[in-house]
Amino acid sequence: MFKVSFQAQMRTVIKRTAIRHTAIKHRIITGLSGRVIGAIGAISVILFGLFALVPAAEAIAPSLATPEPALTERQSDSPATLFEQNCAGCHVNGGNVIRRGKNLKKRAMERYGYGEVGAIAQIITNGKGIMSAYGDRLSSEEIGAIAQYVHEQSESGW
Ligand code: HEC
Repeated sequence: MFKVSFQAQMRTVIKRTAIRHTAIKHRIITGLSGRVIGAIGAISVILFGLFALVPAAEAIAPSLATPEPALTERQSDSPATLFEQNCAGCHVNGGNVIRRGKNLKKRAMERYGYGEVGAIAQIITNGKGIMSAYGDRLSSEEIGAIAQYVHEQSESGW
């Protein structure tokens, strides 16, 4: 009686430990694989993120490196600079190195019909005689700005 029950007890103990062992083993395996899968998942997410960021960074980088130099340069050209670059070769200090009388001083300007900004813009756009046309080289805004500048300078005596 005792023997049987002892044996039975031992058997249940062994069975229980076996069950517990497999349970532990199972938990270790699933735990490990879970962690491994988790790690792989995390790495792939990071890698994917990096690859997704590369084109975005490439798209952003040039705009950061070069903040539209051509545009800002053009915008910062003052009327005085535009006159220096395009007109001063012949009209330095409001004179005229080619036809002396046709200068940009107030008296000549009024005599030849350039007392108004519009008329000045006209001759800049279309040219006249030896003076070439600027309509295809300068924007209408630039021509307007130079015309305004020349008008002001002729009024104030250069
Ligand atoms: C290659 C030399 C040359 C350049 C560059 C030049 N001009 Fe002239 N400009 C002339 C000559 C020559 C005349 C006289 C035209 C004529 O009546 O036959 C003239 C006439 C003018 C007149 C009329 C002046 C007057 O008293 O009759 C104005 C205004 C004028 N130029 C403005 C400009 C402006 C502004 C620029 C620059 C955008 C410019 N010019 C560039 C040669 C030049």
